[in-house]
Order: sequence, then C-alpha cells, then structure tokens
Amino acid sequence: MSLNIKNNVYWVGKIDWELERFHGYEYSTHRGSTYNSYLIREDKTALIDTIWGTYSKEFVENLANETDLNKIDYVIANHGEADHSGALPELMRNIPDTPIYCTKNGLKSLKGQYHQDWNFNVVKTGDTLSLGDKELVFVEMPMLHWPDSMLCYLTGDNLLFSNDAFGHHYASELIYCDLVDQAELYAECIKYYANILTPFSPMVVRKIKEVLSLDLPLDMICPSHGMIWRDRPEQIVEQYLKWADNYQENQITIIYDTMWNSTRKMAECIAKGIRESDKEVDIKLYHLEKKDKNDVITEVFKSKAIIVGSPTINKGILTSVAAILELIQGLKFQKKKAAAFGSYGWSGESAKIISDSLETSGFEMADEVLKVNWSPDNESVEKCVEYGKRLSEKFA
Ligand code: FEO
Repeated sequence: MSLNIKNNVYWVGKIDWELERFHGYEYSTHRGSTYNSYLIREDKTALIDTIWGTYSKEFVENLANETDLNKIDYVIANHGEADHSGALPELMRNIPDTPIYCTKNGLKSLKGQYHQDWNFNVVKTGDTLSLGDKELVFVEMPMLHWPDSMLCYLTGDNLLFSNDAFGHHYASELIYCDLVDQAELYAECIKYYANILTPFSPMVVRKIKEVLSLDLPLDMICPSHGMIWRDRPEQIVEQYLKWADNYQENQITIIYDTMWNSTRKMAECIAKGIRESDKEVDIKLYHLEKKDKNDVITEVFKSKAIIVGSPTINKGILTSVAAILELIQGLKFQKKKAAAFGSYGWSGESAKIISDSLETSGFEMADEVLKVNWSPDNESVEKCVEYGKRLSEKFA
C-alpha cells in the first residue's frame, strides 16, 4: 500500500492494527500504531525512514512495487530505534551501496544494532541534501526522544518529517489527523507525550523554538507514528509547548493497590474527604492491578497532585506500586504535589517507602503519611476523610 501525500511524496509505511505493546511490554498501544516511511520522488529519490523489522519483507516488496529499488538515491535514517530502522537490513541487501544519511549518534545506533559497514553519511543541523528543485534540510533533535534523533524538512512542499516527535500510537487507514476521531487522537497524543517525552520537556521547548526561529513555511507535519498533521499542523506544536510547560489540570489522582481491601477503603475515604472540601476538582482512583500502567501515567501527567497507597508486605510495598513509582521516577515530573498512605497489619513501612520514593522523584510531599492498622474502623475512616480534606487544601 502506498499513498500520495503531496506532489511527489508518498507514504509507504505499515499500519499495525495488531500492535498491543511497544518497547517490549513497556508501552500499551490500545489502538495499534503505524510505522511511517516516506518516499520522495524528485529528480533524486529519497526514502525517509523504514519500518519495524517484523514487517521488513512486505515493506521492501511494497517499496519495489512503487519504485525500482536501484532508483533510490538516498536513505534518510532520522532515528536508529528498531521501529524505524528494522527494515534497513532487508532493504540494504538489495541496494548495499546506497548512501544512508543520519546523525553522528545515529551512526553509533545503526552500527551498534546491525553491525554493517553501509555507506553512512553523517549530517548535522543546517546540512542540506539536494533532490533537484527541492532539498531536504536536516535538524538534529537530540533527546526527542533519543540522542540520535533528527528531523528533516522538504523545501518547496513544506513538509516536516518529524520522526517520533508529534507522533502517536494510533492505527487508521485515514492517514490524516483531521479525518480521525479527535477524542481518540488527543488521548493517544497526550499518552505518548506523558509516557515518552515528559523527561525531555525542557529540550522540547528549546528545539521547538529553534525550529520555529527558522521561519519555515509548514504545510504538513509527517511523523513516523500515527496520522499526518495536515489541517493547521502547528496545532500539535502549540500543544507540545503547553504540555512541556509543567502541564497540569485541576485533577487529583489516587493510585493504590490493595490486598484485603483496607488500602482500597482508605483510598475511597480520602477521595470522600477531598470531595467534601472541593466540589470542582476532578478526583480519579486507580487500582493498579486492574489498570494499564501507561494510562495511569497519563493521569499522573494531567494531575496537579497524586496520592499513592499500598499495604505493607515483607516490610515493603506491593510490586504494582513499586513498578509505577519506578516509572514515575524516570519521567521526572515537575511541580506536582503528592501524599502517601497505606494499611498494615504488623510492621507498616509501606507509606514511608512510597513517600521517600515520590520525594526523590521531585514531588512536593504535602503532608505526613497516613497509616491505618488492620481494617479501617470508624475512627480510621474519619481520619482518612479528614486527611483528604487537609490534602485538598494543601493541593489547592
Ligand atoms: Fe524512538 Fe518510534 O522510535
């Protein structure tokens, strides 16, 4: 399958309707994804990115139906990660001498993964590659989201091939953002930003400002995952600037796991206290064992504060809570508040462990931890409700 995007530019990627997990099992893809590859057929022919290796044979066969592979003059590898470079070995078996353009770190990544001495050409920001009347302009994008990432811009057609930036894991045959369900699209974009780009927000802002300062006319943003931004493409750039600016909504998220329902009861009583104190804040409760961790992280991203709870087990915390705390630590959320709670039967370390972890992750701890021994009785229930009321004020 190929699709004409504009003039001599064609989408030649793969729509992966079956994909449920990405980055191994780290990232859930409830709505599938796409691996976008683009073929530009000017006086010179350039291929921008390939796709995940699982589909390399069909990708190369499809490409060969589109063009004589020997007519591909240049391969552009905007990013070395396997979902974009995985089909390179299959492609390069057919055209072993074709030059590959990538960043200096891209060279490390591609050599490190494929151990081939292909005809690499290292480019840096501002370098150009003539395709005839039009040219590709390269811009390095380190840490958006890997050190080797770059984007390229096609003059004349005003297309920005942004690789992972501005992407989303979303499968659709419609190809363009303006044609798909907008609520679904927004949900996948914010999940992608929250789970992948949050730690790099300062660099996101710097790079976007750098690219905007070039004052390039922009007709479309063509990312390497999901749909193409055709209608007012700057909308996703503006959205990224908002998300990168310590984004939060009027939301408090309570995240917990529970063994015999005591910690769950605490969570619900804390929520009751918040609600009694603040009628407008959006309170969301997630039992970690029953929820997708990436969806929970998206809710953390949207929150002004989070409250995390676990019962004590083996003088520690439940593994689902440990896992989300590990994710939270890596994502380096800024300017959010937090609190910790937990029930216990004997030793009771859990709330303190959670609190220490959140503090290390940069959260401002708003109050002492809340612990309840055994199952909450009326007095403990009241303590939890009061805790919720107090937190509501401190989170305001
Ligand atoms: Fe960083 Fe889509 O890979």
